[in-house]
Amino acid sequence: MNAVLPVVFVSSSIADAELQRLSLLLQPLSVSISFRQPESEYFLQYIDNKVVLSNHQQQVFADFVGGALNHRIHHRGAEWIAKAVDIKKNKSIWDATAGLGRDAFVLASLGASVQLFERHFVPAVLLADALQRGQQEPQMQAIISRMSLNFGTIFNTDLPCPDVIYLDPMFPERQKSALVKKEMRFFQAAVGEDNDSTDLLNKARTMPVKRIVVKRPKHGAFIGDIKPAYQYVGKSTRFDVYLPV
Ligand SMILES: C[S@@+](CC[C@H](N)C(=O)[O-])C[C@H]1O[C@@H](n2cnc3c(N)ncnc32)[C@H](O)[C@@H]1O
Repeated sequence: MNAVLPVVFVSSSIADAELQRLSLLLQPLSVSISFRQPESEYFLQYIDNKVVLSNHQQQVFADFVGGALNHRIHHRGAEWIAKAVDIKKNKSIWDATAGLGRDAFVLASLGASVQLFERHFVPAVLLADALQRGQQEPQMQAIISRMSLNFGTIFNTDLPCPDVIYLDPMFPERQKSALVKKEMRFFQAAVGEDNDSTDLLNKARTMPVKRIVVKRPKHGAFIGDIKPAYQYVGKSTRFDVYLPV
């Protein structure tokens, strides 16, 4: 069984304060706590003071404090995304496909205020937990305070429209790409594909924003075969820039 149940498996030895913190975090996401390990292949688990997506052999979690993302923001890994969103002029961004929040974190570290939208409870739980952990690190607080998680999609929000809408959907083809990191494949197996990304792009283009930026593998097809206005091409990633219609 592949489907992840909306519960977080917690050891019965968890401290009361931690249990309370976790319950408050999970409540808005309609996810509950279980002291029994789910029988599904993939399950959410609270272990080592964080929530992880587990499958007995590996774990995936969102993390804004560890090394990889910080390396990316300090070693030019943010250069193309900064150009694609035109970060100097556009400081208000909606990340319409938040996932594990890495791109959103890079954008926030460049000074943008980012509203993260995630419709699936698995990444939403991992993100909510990572944001809370990040807030406890003094050197991360300024960046994390510019990131807000919305459980849902950009189409059911009352927030004022941003300068830029950013999309990075899970294309079916990405599962075969050697460029997809092992942990993203693991995550995809539990969360599934985004087969409605053309609709998402089309709807985003009807909104009064300055641009819509779509992240794609360097040689990947355009979303819905829709040609962008222009592109920024990095080493393995491409950013297609669309203008509203
Ligand atoms: C490839 S991941 C994004 C990875 C992300 N850019 C990062 O840096 O971690 C795509 C995510 O978008 C979410 N998603 C796809 N379509 C969505 C939509 N219309 N509204 C909200 N979330 C969506 C999926 O559930 C998935 O978690």
